[in-house]
Amino acid sequence: MTTRIPLMAGNWKMNLNHLEAIAQVQKLSQYLTDAKHDFATAEAAVLVPYTDLRSVQTLVDSDNLPIEYGAQDVSEHASGAYTGDISADMLKSLGVKFCAVGHSERREYYGETDALVNAKVRALAAADIVSIVCVGEALEIRKAGNHVPYTVDSLKGSIADLSPEELAKTVIAYEPVWAIGTGEVATPADAQEVIGALREAIAEMYDADVADAMRILYGGSVKSGNVAEIMAEKDIDGALVGGASLDPEEFSKIVRFADHA
Ligand code: PGA
Repeated sequence: MTTRIPLMAGNWKMNLNHLEAIAQVQKLSQYLTDAKHDFATAEAAVLVPYTDLRSVQTLVDSDNLPIEYGAQDVSEHASGAYTGDISADMLKSLGVKFCAVGHSERREYYGETDALVNAKVRALAAADIVSIVCVGEALEIRKAGNHVPYTVDSLKGSIADLSPEELAKTVIAYEPVWAIGTGEVATPADAQEVIGALREAIAEMYDADVADAMRILYGGSVKSGNVAEIMAEKDIDGALVGGASLDPEEFSKIVRFADHA
């Protein structure tokens, strides 16, 4: 049985410029160190706009902060004539450890498909960056009772044909679209139902050990007040946090979920 270290990843989305990012990471780090947070019990990461990465890197490196950082998207291409895109190697050169892929906002507003997500995951794995692969159903699919097969299929397409080594460089995030930014959190049992099914699908695609090692996060209106009950579910290994990650004190409490379990 592998011990999966919980990961709390704050997805800032398109918020905070590079100066604000510095202040934000300083405060987050202060809250966590003041509370003597043990990072071996839960990792803390921030997924920031591209324009913040250099500033966050400089701060984290120079002050040796225990916070990890990453990006919110990447190009599937290695280099070339792709105006506006950012490659995995460019992220790597800024010390990026994580990158979200296939967030529902990317899927909905930019038409990202599972096949594109799959190409991006490969590009990241080649650069040794851990993908946070997002999957989750819209409200109509949940209402029709098809959320488990829909989400499992989306995961299968998103991680299709990855080698076990590539898969080891991924984290999965189950984010039901109806729970994102709405205050409408899935019940812990709802989240466990889907996340348990995702883990089973990985066991079928690979094997039980690979499935056992995979970190699967829940995302959608996670706050300090509901994180402990979500984390109490056996297959949930952390959270992808949007709105609440913009408040450093609140996000530090989410990272320290074990304190208020
Ligand atoms: P939320 O966003 O926590 O604001 O619901 C989650 C996400 O979009 O990753």
